[in-house]
Amino acid sequence: MNIDTILAQAGSRRDPHTGAVSTPIHQCATFRHPALGQSTGYDYSRTANPTRQALENAMAELENGARGLAFSSGMAAIDNVIRLLSANDKVVITEDLYGGTYRIFQKVYAQYSIEAVYVDTSDIRAVEAALNDQAVKMLFVEVPTNPMLKVADIKALGELAKKRGVIFVVDNTFLSPCSLRPLELGADIVLHSATKYLNGHNDVVAGVLVTKTQELGDRLFFFQNSVGSILSPNDAWLVLRGLKTLHLRIEKQSANALSVAEFLEKHPKVKKVFYPGLKSHQGHAVQAKQAKCFGGMVSFEVDEPALVPQILKSVKVFHFAESLGGTESLITFPAVQTHADIEPEIRERLGVTDTLLRLSIGVEHGDDLINDLKNAIESGE
Ligand SMILES: Cc1ncc(COP(=O)(O)O)c(C=O)c1O
Repeated sequence: MNIDTILAQAGSRRDPHTGAVSTPIHQCATFRHPALGQSTGYDYSRTANPTRQALENAMAELENGARGLAFSSGMAAIDNVIRLLSANDKVVITEDLYGGTYRIFQKVYAQYSIEAVYVDTSDIRAVEAALNDQAVKMLFVEVPTNPMLKVADIKALGELAKKRGVIFVVDNTFLSPCSLRPLELGADIVLHSATKYLNGHNDVVAGVLVTKTQELGDRLFFFQNSVGSILSPNDAWLVLRGLKTLHLRIEKQSANALSVAEFLEKHPKVKKVFYPGLKSHQGHAVQAKQAKCFGGMVSFEVDEPALVPQILKSVKVFHFAESLGGTESLITFPAVQTHADIEPEIRERLGVTDTLLRLSIGVEHGDDLINDLKNAIESGE
């Protein structure tokens, strides 16, 4: 089946008792056993819940993996992945990545002697060199990166990871399986902040993992069940509902993002635009080869720091807020919001400066978004 069909009916084929077309919300903590030694397949909702499982199965199907797991947040999903490592292991990881992922490695797992080695994962040679250390047990890549939107070649990295025998994890939050399917390109685990495109309505915080093999899925399930960082039935249902329109949203968001990026590229007060859909972007060719669309995220640098507060105050269609991937367009100032936990000198080196703004483009009319940005950029004149 085509992905559009799988999405439109996400979770809908689950209820044999009533034929409900929409997955029921099993708001239930515990399940009655028919007799001693018997189970319906559900005992206690931390271990398995039918609504959560409908989402987990849908995600496994969408990412073409063996097992899906749904978590209470994207960070909970990331935390679960890190539990595959032991003390003195190293992970080679994208240097320009979500600030929360940086924080969990630097401020939580460093105290358990798990070391993150940051590299530019769009540079194959740099990754190859970093993997040349026997202590490295995992390669963790964000694509495109947050917020600089650099593009790593997932297939090439998958070959390197396989050669070295390390677990290859791809954070696919920015693209979703509508656009990129990392497990088909050599990844072992794909992860999502489902808060973003999968749910898509800025009303849930959730995370998802999908593994290539059942064995890896079972190991991660053991951690999830032991730690308890599960998604609630209500939130699982909301993500399932969001999934049904994912393809429609992503298509519109990508088209809008390209129009916005092209507008910004020509504006005299904009110094640089980062959008993989632009031919001028360094990752354009790789992204065109490995992904179906370029996504809805655009970052741009303005001429001078004073323009940032002016734009954030003046936008009327965009919301000045963190997060991304919803129907509503958002504008974020990464240096003080999403990436505040990264040390200033590292931020500066990566380009996360006091003139960089990040846009999450929604499904509004593209002209309204462009006019809003134009008015905000020019409001001080
Ligand atoms: C790329 C990426 N990965 C992971 C996360 C963490 O997800 P959550 O906020 O759902 O915990 C985020 C959050 O912004 C993100 O942007």
